[in-house]
Amino acid sequence: MSTIKHLIAPSVLAADFANLSKDIQMVNESEADWFHIDIMDGVFVPNISFGFPVMQAISKHATKPLDVHLMIVDPDRYLKTCKENGAEIITVHYEACTHLHRTLAGIKELDCKAGVALNPHTSVQLLKDVIGDIDLVCLMSVNPGFGGQKFIENTYTKIRELRTLAAGVNDNLRIEIDGGVTIANAAKLIRAGADVLVAGSFVFNSSAPLDTIKELKAIDAN
Ligand code: DX5
Ligand code: ZN
Repeated sequence: MSTIKHLIAPSVLAADFANLSKDIQMVNESEADWFHIDIMDGVFVPNISFGFPVMQAISKHATKPLDVHLMIVDPDRYLKTCKENGAEIITVHYEACTHLHRTLAGIKELDCKAGVALNPHTSVQLLKDVIGDIDLVCLMSVNPGFGGQKFIENTYTKIRELRTLAAGVNDNLRIEIDGGVTIANAAKLIRAGADVLVAGSFVFNSSAPLDTIKELKAIDAN
């Protein structure tokens, strides 16, 4: 089990886009740790979210790191733009990178933390040869592309398997869970070894988002 206190990263995808500054302010004032920013291209995933101009606007108001999840093909083309628009953590999809090792080096050259996201069907074992080069693994617990989907239960097994794979090689690896996270599964996820929880609809559709974030942050998995 991770000894690092878990982080909460509300996903802006579920925010009210017509009142974005209000929702950003809410996250600023909350106990959340990061902003999770979902960029989609309509090719890698069957949806288009928002692009870099919106991300830049968010970064001007955000007082916490931007954790950028690139659900796009050929992410190398946009790493620099991503950094210029405020990213501190850049996560690319394993399935979208032919030369993942090179892509990770490119992210680090920009002085960003490097993350790799895995779709639900992608085995964590595929990261064996790059596990020491990764700051964060984002385990997708839904098929990427949409908020508000049902959590996939096999995620717990993948977390444990990933912690075992990283043990002794990368003990500081952050394991982020993205999709369908609620108060009902958060403690079990942390107990399995996750230490960053992304939550979109559970936070932004809640009647009291500040309290919801507080509740997620207060989980004691021990
Ligand atoms: C899905 C995105 C998620 C999404 C999570 O493709 O990567 O970050 O916003 O939303 P919820 O928490 O509603 O499942
Ligand atoms: Zn995401």
